[in-house]
Amino acid sequence: MTDYKNILVTGGAGFIGANFVRYIVEEHPDIFVTVLDKLTYAGNRANLAGLPEDRVKLVVGDIADAPLVDQLVSETDAVIHYAAESHNDNSLQDPSPFVQTNIIGTYTLLEAVRKYNKRFHHVSTDEVYGDLPLREDLPGHGEGVGEKFTPESPYRPSSPYSSTKAGSDLLVRAWVRSFGVQATISNTSNNYGPYQHIEKFIPRQVTSILSGIKPKLYGNGKNVRDWIHTYDHATAVWAILTKGKIGETYLVGADGEKDNITVLRAILKDMGKPEDDFDFVQDRSGHDLRYAIDATKMHEELGWQPKYTDFASGLAHTIQWYTDNQDWWQAEKAEVEAKYAKNNQ
Ligand code: NAD
Ligand code: DAU
Repeated sequence: MTDYKNILVTGGAGFIGANFVRYIVEEHPDIFVTVLDKLTYAGNRANLAGLPEDRVKLVVGDIADAPLVDQLVSETDAVIHYAAESHNDNSLQDPSPFVQTNIIGTYTLLEAVRKYNKRFHHVSTDEVYGDLPLREDLPGHGEGVGEKFTPESPYRPSSPYSSTKAGSDLLVRAWVRSFGVQATISNTSNNYGPYQHIEKFIPRQVTSILSGIKPKLYGNGKNVRDWIHTYDHATAVWAILTKGKIGETYLVGADGEKDNITVLRAILKDMGKPEDDFDFVQDRSGHDLRYAIDATKMHEELGWQPKYTDFASGLAHTIQWYTDNQDWWQAEKAEVEAKYAKNNQ
């Protein structure tokens, strides 16, 4: 039970937002969810399909639309803010929607929660901390202090995407300190699971294999990401929303470090293909080397633990989901690949 009966979830028709909404509907039957989503290329009504109308309402609109945001925030008990432009590669082609949505959009929400004194949770990324050296480049091969991101790590984002997320985090921190806004922040590592847009690494490779296209690996494939199942991200956000301390930053991860080539080989093997049946392609400009989260604060202060830590089984379920739901992604596949092909990726 919680005091929150009505929550506003921005970006709830995107990948992680929709998985959060589904988690709320399943696990918290006393809560009504309003989703505010612009339905950009990454938002999809189908991500909310099948959810009961008396539990979830979708409002199609922009988080930077101040009158709309003012009205929706006035009617809610808490705002969980997922809406963003989220893809690094897109941000390298055109940063402008990233600045508009991630910074101006977050500012617009902050002004509304400030006016109505509403609880605000800001969903952010570990990428605000830049990258870490690869373990093999660390003395003692990475055993010891300072090898993971902590809430004290300095901000040093690399891409237009991560710099706009960093900017939005700093706005939240300032609104807490200067105006007493009741906000928390989470910085989470790479999510995977159902409903992830096929521009992203795991779904791109799975849907390529299903379409008879060779998977594409950037650079030498040694870059490391720290994978967490999106369901565990949802439970972490819920724990912070209900038990977190106002003004605090929480790092969310599930000890899921893997290099990209290992993940790609696992996908190929799972799908019955030779493990070297992929192309090395042009590296991403400014490509972050390694992310790794120290989630001690989540464990010790909020008692949160991830459940889906068996990556092999989570990956197999995710592959099965894309295999079973080809109608969900097929119409977009050619366009996504054409966009990548322009950059030899
Ligand atoms: P996504 O791109 O799949 O979804 C973003 C959603 O926001 C879409 O539904 C889109 O329509 C909506 N949106 C975009 N601009 C909007 C606007 N101006 N107004 C209203 N809605 C708008 O993204 P995702 O991967 O689900 O990420 C969600 C959030 O989680 C983002 O804030 C992202 O920075 C953060 N995050 C993502 C990851 C990850 O691995 N994907 C990890 C950590 C944090
Ligand atoms: O760490 C959290 C972040 O994770 C989130 O903030 C972002 O919103 C989310 O998109 C994700 O960012 P990444 O850039 O790490 O994810 P992406 O899926 O784009 O790429 C994962 C890794 O795979 C990265 O090292 C680049 C590489 N890659 C990606 C694609 C699309 C490839 O090698 N080939 C590809 O085709």
